[in-house]
Amino acid sequence: MKIEADVARIERDLMALGKIGETADGGVTRRSFTETDRKGRDFIVDLMKDAGLDIWVDIGGNIHGVRKGTKPELPPVVTGSHSDSVENGGRFDGAAGVIAAIEAIRALNDAGIETEHPLEAVSFFAEEPSHFNTTCLGSRIVAGGFTDTSLLERTDSQGRTLQQAFDEMEIDTGKFHIPARDPQKIKALIELHVEQGSVLYEKEIPIGIITDIVAATRYRVTFLGQADHAGATPMKGRRDALTAASEAILAVERIANEYSDRDVVATVGIIECHPGMVNAIPGNVRILVEVRGRAHFSKEIPAAEIVEAIRTISRNRSVDVDIETIAQDTSREVSPEIIDILRQCAEDRGYPYLVMPSRAGHDALHIQNIAPAGMIFLPSKDGIGHDPREWTDMEDIRKGVNVLAEAMVRLANQ
Ligand code: HGY
Ligand code: MN
Ligand code: MN
Repeated sequence: MKIEADVARIERDLMALGKIGETADGGVTRRSFTETDRKGRDFIVDLMKDAGLDIWVDIGGNIHGVRKGTKPELPPVVTGSHSDSVENGGRFDGAAGVIAAIEAIRALNDAGIETEHPLEAVSFFAEEPSHFNTTCLGSRIVAGGFTDTSLLERTDSQGRTLQQAFDEMEIDTGKFHIPARDPQKIKALIELHVEQGSVLYEKEIPIGIITDIVAATRYRVTFLGQADHAGATPMKGRRDALTAASEAILAVERIANEYSDRDVVATVGIIECHPGMVNAIPGNVRILVEVRGRAHFSKEIPAAEIVEAIRTISRNRSVDVDIETIAQDTSREVSPEIIDILRQCAEDRGYPYLVMPSRAGHDALHIQNIAPAGMIFLPSKDGIGHDPREWTDMEDIRKGVNVLAEAMVRLANQ
């Protein structure tokens, strides 16, 4: 019997999940380690149980729904994404991949199709930047990538440590050193995700098949100048931390532009200015800088130039600067075998597809360290992501789930 995703179920579940943490303008805020994230995770567990899946949570806090295979001792074929979101983000980022994972299994149930390897739908924990400025926590932990335990001392704006936040989630940080998947290896992972860029939408192609996934290097930069009276202090001799940060931010943009032909991008997304009064010269300013690149060109080259430029600007302005590296992930190519299987499945269905890079980071990047991984992209309307206007047509998700389910069966019956 042919596998056919049920678009009504997909829409019902996606819109219901979008109600959890819904914001005034129709976006979602389900930040990790918060009550709304917990509610989202509970909702997903209920959906997995309704689909007849056996639930377990791994050491990274990732929720797994297992569909037994005829050979249960074999490693599972896994599919899924994350359920947390950015602040006032979109309803499809991560969520589409989690619902697609559950729907792919439901469609196989409807078609009465069995597989040798077990199948797993997974909801990864804390993919988006947490209040501790960590990313991809759940997938990083299970891939053995959470090695810097000093991160556990990081605090959020309320003074809560990451260790306390894990404790509240009942995630035992003492197990992070154990490769979570031994002895039960993952046979393969396929993550379905919305593109959050405009390539597929503008080309009117419903399926993207990913070749490689970008990674980020991130810095926390603190400029220490001299706060002073804005009126009584002459311009000459000021040590203004905000003007130094401003010149640095423009240097980040300038250097990224110089490398943009090699797929490098850089952004300053956060700035904190103290004392933050209109009549006081800023003495302490913090910015967060991120540099991204693809596997074919090392982002560390522009990143080093950015660090050097920030130091030079600070020196010229007699402002002290502290630069802390808070993330340094490696961009990766995904599994060529999974790319081929996804191409065949899209072709067999007659769906147009585009082989392309992912310019966003995803959990599949980390799982690629311990198992063959692949990704399916779906078009984002007007290329919008990380915003309440984020939208993907249900018809595209239906196609994506059909390709996903077909590919899982092929991988699970090899
Ligand atoms: O930042 C990213 O690329 C992803 O949305 N977490
Ligand atoms: Mn995102
Ligand atoms: Mn995402």
